[in-house]
Amino acid sequence: MNAQEGQIAPTVLLPGDPLRAQHIAQTFFDNPVQHNSVRGMLGFTGTYRGKPVSVQGTGMGMPSAGIYVHELIHSYGAKTLVRVGTCGSYQKDVHVRDIVLGQAACTDSNLNFTRFQGLSYAPIADFSLLMAAYQRAQARGFAAHVGNIMSSDIFYQDDPQSFQMWADHGVLAVEMEAAALYTQAAKAGVRALTVLTVSDHLVTHEVTTAEERQTTFNQMIEVALEAALG
Ligand code: HPA
Repeated sequence: MNAQEGQIAPTVLLPGDPLRAQHIAQTFFDNPVQHNSVRGMLGFTGTYRGKPVSVQGTGMGMPSAGIYVHELIHSYGAKTLVRVGTCGSYQKDVHVRDIVLGQAACTDSNLNFTRFQGLSYAPIADFSLLMAAYQRAQARGFAAHVGNIMSSDIFYQDDPQSFQMWADHGVLAVEMEAAALYTQAAKAGVRALTVLTVSDHLVTHEVTTAEERQTTFNQMIEVALEAALG
């Protein structure tokens, strides 16, 4: 990233899509200033209810997101990182447009297999962020589920039923970044959370309109900002 030292706030929202970063900054921040342009991975810093906050696109998948998370923590001093994104539901009662708070993240990635020399590590969210996000969602009447999620390296699975093993063990939904975020945050001693909206459903194949997605997207950002800065 080409942000100057001190230009990025200690609290950072992390959407995968750089244009979502721009949308979040323009919709929710006061006085947003773009702090990164390298690789088109837009990032902005402004204030929310008077508190400094940044948003940084990460790209899709753990190798890409892991680079931004590392630089935000180690080059720019980020202390609270909240991923905001979409997920595919594994469970009948976790509906399209619901919010999913990733309490922990399984993964099919080799990332932690390599890091932990073939042993298993359980990446988890920061409890204070998780609790604050859940309380905000409850207070606003947003449908929110708390539980295990799956961070996958593969979006287009050859076997459409391969998710069943995870579903049978209570995993709520699939996305592609949380396990790396939680592991890197734990190593650095900083706080992390993943707040998702369900965009597609692997069991019921429910669909959602663009307008509905926008409403639930904004609810998710509110939950993330209030949890991180509240
Ligand atoms: N797989 C992985 N990531 C996702 C999905 C999915 O089905 N939907 C939204 N993010």
